[in-house]
Amino acid sequence: MNNFDFYNPVKILFGKGKISELNKHIPADAKILVTYGGGSIKKNGVYDQVMAALDGYNVKEFGGIEPNPHFETLMKAVEFVKAEEIDFLLAVGGGSVLDGTKFIAAASCYKGEDAWDILAKRARVESAIDLGAVLTLAATGSEMNSGGVITKVATKEKLAFGSPLLFPKFSILDPEVTYSLPKRQIANGIADAFVHVMEQYLTYPVNSPVQDRFAEGLLMTLIEEGTKAYNSETPNYDEYANVMWAATMALNGLIGAGVQSDWATHMIGHELTAFHGIDHAVTLAIVLPGLMTHLKDKRNVKLLQYAERVWKITEGSEEERIAMAIVKTEDFFNRIGIQTRLSQHKVGRATIDTIIKRFTDRQLPSIGMLPDVKIEDAEKILVDRL
Ligand code: NZQ
Ligand code: ZN
Repeated sequence: MNNFDFYNPVKILFGKGKISELNKHIPADAKILVTYGGGSIKKNGVYDQVMAALDGYNVKEFGGIEPNPHFETLMKAVEFVKAEEIDFLLAVGGGSVLDGTKFIAAASCYKGEDAWDILAKRARVESAIDLGAVLTLAATGSEMNSGGVITKVATKEKLAFGSPLLFPKFSILDPEVTYSLPKRQIANGIADAFVHVMEQYLTYPVNSPVQDRFAEGLLMTLIEEGTKAYNSETPNYDEYANVMWAATMALNGLIGAGVQSDWATHMIGHELTAFHGIDHAVTLAIVLPGLMTHLKDKRNVKLLQYAERVWKITEGSEEERIAMAIVKTEDFFNRIGIQTRLSQHKVGRATIDTIIKRFTDRQLPSIGMLPDVKIEDAEKILVDRL
């Protein structure tokens, strides 16, 4: 196993009715900005629950944070935070609202000229406003990690940032607030969490049975409980709760500690969202089968382990077992309604060329954290997915 530092200070408040406990976790004299997205929280009662729990606090609000949150919108919130001297941010929404709020927290304290440098130049976050979260969509793990992803509309760039100062102080996870999710977002959440695990698992063996078995447990839970939650006609608490906790555990640092992580699928997927607006999780479900196929010889040890332990594939040659595991993976995404071919999303060769040019212009030595996905590999992976 590799050396690692593991640090995760996020307090998780999980279960039915937990939003009512908000006031136990925010200082009484805080000047709070509640941030949210396009209005789902006003339709499903979450806004009312939050406001009732914040009775007696000094509360302002900032709505309209888009899916794949826009830098341009978030900078308006930064102005507001400075003008109103806000000292606590409460994000109420999915990964986009949480990520956007982390950016507001960092950008409001940023001393440099252009807060986009936090993403484009990875400028260090020296201080940030405290934040908490009420999660309404199980998917990204943003509720228990210190990273985020922001889109600049003007340049069609989608970039990541992070800092230990951006861990939420607490996150409230009430599975009941996810009952109002449309099927498309339930599927997206399951697929995103699934690929988060794969990015930290399907790499190279380092003799890490704890991390591997945690990862396999999360994958199997997402397949079993995720499929049930997706297919249920009416939401079932335990299915939604299991998906929610699996998604949080998938990207809170635990399974990635001491192992080799990849993130090439995400790096390529972000470009598909940046240029075509395809949902984040859908981009991952498109790219992952291509990456697995392209790396089937180099990553064969973990692929065989995945085939046997997650899909119970024990018959056939090594090559056949790996091929079957890739088919099963894509089939799982399809069974939860995700279309996994670029052509199904009207993306053709021209976009692949644009993405490859961007990677080349950025002079990336490799895509992701491992040296086995170079720019030419990314091109082959995308061509395979047309
Ligand atoms: O905006 P509102 O009206 O709230 O509607 C949202 C949005 O339209 C809706 N929604 C959320 N909760 C709902 C609901 N609708 C009904 N009932 C509810 N309870 O769902 C839509 C999608 O929301 P969004 O927040 O965009 O989805 P998700 O949680 O999948 O977040 C995706 C973003 O997270 C980033 C992605 O790149 C993308 O920008 N990621 C963040 C990561 C992180 N911080 O660690 C890691 C991930 O890999 C990912 O990159
Ligand atoms: Zn993701």
